Amino acid sequence: MIHLTIDGVSVQAEEGMTILEAAKAANIRIPTLCYLKEVSNIGSCRVCVVEVDEMEKLTASCNTLVRDGMSVRTKTDKVVRSRRMALDLILSHHNLVCFSCPSNGVCELQEVCHECGITESSYQSVRSPGIEVPAVEDNPFLGYRPDLCIHCQRCINTCANVSGCNAIKLTSRGIFRTIETPFGKNWKQTECESCGNCAEACPTGAIYKKEAKTYRSWEIQRVRTTCPHCAVGCQYDLLVKNNKLVGAQGVDGPSNGGRLCVKGRFGSYKFVMSDDRLTDPLIKDRATGKFRKASWDEALDLVASKFMALKRQYGADSLAGFACSRSTNEDIYMVQKMVRTCFGTNNTDNCARVCHSASVEGLAKTLGSGAMTNPIYDITHDVEAILLIGSNPEEAHPVVGMQIREAVRKGAKLIVVDPRDIGLTRQADIHLKLRPGTNIAFANGMCHIFIKEGLIDEKFIAERTEGFQALKKIVKDYTPERVAKICNIDPDDLRAAARIYATAKTAPIIYCLGVTEHSTGTEGVMSMSNMAMMVGKLGRKGCGVNPLRGQNNVQGACDMGASPTQYPGYQPVTNPEIRAKFEKAWGVPLPSEVGLHATDVFPAAIRGEIKGLYICGEDPVVTDPDTHHVIKALSALDFLVVQELFMTETALLADVVLPGRSYAEKDGTFTNTERRVQRVRKAVTLPGNSRLDTDILCDLMRRMGYNQPNLSAAEIFNEMASLTPSFYGISYERLENEPTKSLQWPCTDKYHSGTSIMHTGKFTRGLGLFYPTVYTPAQELPDKEYPLMLTTGRILYHYNTRAMTGKTEGLMEIAGHSFIEINTKDAEHLGIRQGERITVSSRRGSITSEARISDKTNPGECWMPFHFPDGDCNWLTNAALDQFARIPEYKVCACRIEKLPEEQAYDKKGKYVTQKMIADQWHKKMNKSVQKMMRR
Ligand code: FES
Repeated sequence: MIHLTIDGVSVQAEEGMTILEAAKAANIRIPTLCYLKEVSNIGSCRVCVVEVDEMEKLTASCNTLVRDGMSVRTKTDKVVRSRRMALDLILSHHNLVCFSCPSNGVCELQEVCHECGITESSYQSVRSPGIEVPAVEDNPFLGYRPDLCIHCQRCINTCANVSGCNAIKLTSRGIFRTIETPFGKNWKQTECESCGNCAEACPTGAIYKKEAKTYRSWEIQRVRTTCPHCAVGCQYDLLVKNNKLVGAQGVDGPSNGGRLCVKGRFGSYKFVMSDDRLTDPLIKDRATGKFRKASWDEALDLVASKFMALKRQYGADSLAGFACSRSTNEDIYMVQKMVRTCFGTNNTDNCARVCHSASVEGLAKTLGSGAMTNPIYDITHDVEAILLIGSNPEEAHPVVGMQIREAVRKGAKLIVVDPRDIGLTRQADIHLKLRPGTNIAFANGMCHIFIKEGLIDEKFIAERTEGFQALKKIVKDYTPERVAKICNIDPDDLRAAARIYATAKTAPIIYCLGVTEHSTGTEGVMSMSNMAMMVGKLGRKGCGVNPLRGQNNVQGACDMGASPTQYPGYQPVTNPEIRAKFEKAWGVPLPSEVGLHATDVFPAAIRGEIKGLYICGEDPVVTDPDTHHVIKALSALDFLVVQELFMTETALLADVVLPGRSYAEKDGTFTNTERRVQRVRKAVTLPGNSRLDTDILCDLMRRMGYNQPNLSAAEIFNEMASLTPSFYGISYERLENEPTKSLQWPCTDKYHSGTSIMHTGKFTRGLGLFYPTVYTPAQELPDKEYPLMLTTGRILYHYNTRAMTGKTEGLMEIAGHSFIEINTKDAEHLGIRQGERITVSSRRGSITSEARISDKTNPGECWMPFHFPDGDCNWLTNAALDQFARIPEYKVCACRIEKLPEEQAYDKKGKYVTQKMIADQWHKKMNKSVQKMMRR
C-alpha cells in the first residue's frame, strides 16, 4: 500500500492507482471532463489538475500515479484558477445553446462549470452566439454537433477501447482539430455499428442519440432491466416518459460492463409500443379462415374445452405445448407445468431444440452439466488465446464481440474456425476457413496434434477424466494432412492453431450455432469437450467450453424444464423419486414416459398422432427448417393455439390467438448464457386487453380443471426454486441484495454465492468423459442438381424472426431485406451481378433474394441470414435431425442458384444463351469438384 495525504487527509492507495482514483476512494471530489474510468485518461482538458509537493507545475490527477509520501492539494487558489481557466477556454469553443440541447440537465460540462462558478467564456467565442452549426445526422440513430464538441476524445477512446470499432477519429491538431464521427452520408461504408456507446460517453450533447430530443432528463423514470435480444444479458435502464418507452441506457452489468449494441440500445423498446401489437383474443372461423375478436372468457373456455376433448378422445400424448425462449423464466415454468399437469404429457419443449439442444446434451454427457462453463468476463479478459469456433459474436452476441476485440487489442491470440470471413477474422492470428459440417474432423485433428506433439495434460487426463484411450485410438487417423483435405484447410495452420491453444496458459473455447446446428451437432459439442479436457483447460479461470446461447432466455427455457425429458433444473422425468417430488408439489399424477422433442412433434402431427398444440411465443413457421413441412404439420392439427405479441406467420395458422405481454410490461427473470439469473422489471402498462402471460396460463389451467391460483412472478420463481436444487439459493430478495444484482446457478442454498466457474476440482458428472467422436459428412451434400452448399446465420441488426427488431425503423433502414452471399468465382460462372435478384432453390423449396458477391465464403459455398420474409432461407434448409438432441442441420444443405428468368442473354462471345444454359454449364463444372471432394 502507498501512503499519501490529499488535502491534509491521510490516504492509503494501491500501487498503480492514480491520484484521482485515490481521492475518489477517500471520498474527495476532483472534477473531471475528459477522463472516463478504464477508458480514457489522456489528460487533455486539465480540469482535474492538482498541486503536488515537489512538482513545479500543476498535474492532471487522472493520469498521475500515486507515490509514497506524496502530498496532494486539490482546492488551492492556484488549482482553482487553473481549473477555471481551462473551463473558460473550453467554453470559448462550446456553443451555449443549453435550452435546445438534449443533454441539458445531464451535461457534465454544465455540471463542472456550475461547480467552478463559470457561466460563460471571458474570451471571444469562436462561435456566433446562439447560431447552431448543422448537425451530422445521416445515421438513423446518432448525430453529431461539432459546435458542442469539447474535443475530450472520450468518444474516440470509447469507440476504440470499449466497442472496439475505431470508427471515430481525430483530425488535425491544436485549435483546428475536429472529431470525425461516422454519421455522415457515407456512414454505412465506415466501421460504425451504431451501438451508441460513444453517445453515452460524450460529456456534452455533441454526440447524441436522436431519440434524446423527445425527452428531457428530468421528465423520465428509469427502470433497470435485462435486454430481450441475445443471451449476453446486458443490463440497461429503460427510459420511461408518461408511460411510454423513449430509450434505453446501458449500465454496468456483470456481462456488459456498461456496453450495449445497436439492438439493445435502439431496438429494444419500439416494438413494445408498436401498433402491430395484438390487443384482444382472436378466434378463427375455420370455414372462412377469418379471425374475430373474442372476450377472454370465450377464448379461454374454447381453448380449455378443445384441449380436454382432444385428450379424452386421443389421449394425453396427442397434445403438446412449446414454451418461448424469449419470455421470462416464470412464463416458461408455467407453460411446462400446464403441459404436464393439465395436458398430462411430457410433450413440451422450447426453441433451444433448434439452436443449442446439442450443447445441453453434449456438455451434459461429457461434463455433467449442459451449460457454459465460465463467465463472459472471465473468457474475454486476461486470456492468452481464444479459440472461436462456429461463432460470429460481433453480429450474434455483439457485446461479447466487443470484449473479444478488446482481448485481442490487449494481446490475446485469436483463432477463428469458421467457413466464412466473419469480422473477427481480420483480427485473427489464424483463420481456419473450414468446409461447413467438418467440425468433428477439425477437433479430432487438433487432438491428434496434441497427442503427437506432447501437448496433452497427462495429469489432468489421468486424475479427472475417463475414455481417453478410446478417443486416442480414433484420433490417430486424423493426421493434419487428412483433416486438411476433409476441411479444405492448410495442415500447417491446423498445427499452429493446436500449438497456440494447447500452450496458452488461459484459452477458452467459445462456440455457437456453427457447431451445434448439424445432424452431428451433439458429437460436435462433445468434440469441443474432448479438446479442452485433453489440454486440461476446464474447471479453471480463462478457459472452459463456452457455448454462446442464442436467445435472451434460451438458457432459462432449458433450466425451467421446457423439455420433453427433464423437469426444471435438468431433473429427469423418468426418475421415480424426482417425479414423486413434483407429483407431491403439484398435486397430480405425472406421466412417466419422456415426451416428444419439438422437432419430432411436426412429423407426428403430419402422421395424425399430435392433434392439439399450444405455442407460447414461438414462430416455427419462420424459424424451423423446411417451412413447407412445418406448415403442413401445423395445418394437420385439429387445434392450434398461439400466445403472442404479434400476428406472426405461425399465429396466422392458429385457431385461437391470445395476446400476451412483452418483457417491458412484466416482472420476471432471464438467465443469460453464463447461467446468470437477472431481473426483468415492469416499466409500462399499455392499453388494450392483453394479459400477463402467467395469468393467461393460470386461468387456462383452472378452466382445464387444475387448481392453479394466479401467482406473482416472485411466487412462481419461489415455487420453481423450491423444487430445483441448483436454484435452491436464488430468490428475488437475494437478486436485489447481491452487489451484481444477479446469481449464477448452481446456487444450492441461501448462503451459497453462486457458481462462476463450473467443474473446478471435479466435474459435475464426476469424471469428465472423452467421447469417441467420429467425423461423418453432413446429410445433404451438393450434387449435380444442387451443386452449392448453403449455410445460414445472423446479422448484427436483427434478431431471429425480426418480430421485435423489425419494428424499429432505423434497423430496417440499415438492413431491411434478404440477401445471399455468393463467392466471386461462382457468381462469375453464373453470370450474376452484384445486387441482382436471383432464385435460390433446394430440394424443399425455392426463394428469391439479392446477390451479394464477395470472397467471404469459399467457392461452392454460399451464406444467407435467416431474418427476412422476402427470402426466408428456411424454405430451403434441411430438417435432418441429430440422433441425440434432435437438432436440425440448418448449417448445411445443397442448393442451386439461378438468375431470375430474362427474355434473353448473351455469353462473353456474344453468342445467344438462355440463363438456364449458363446455370447448367456452371452446375456441371461445380459437380465435378463436388464429386472430387466427396471421394476424399
Ligand atoms: Fe484529467 Fe481531463 S479529466 S485532464
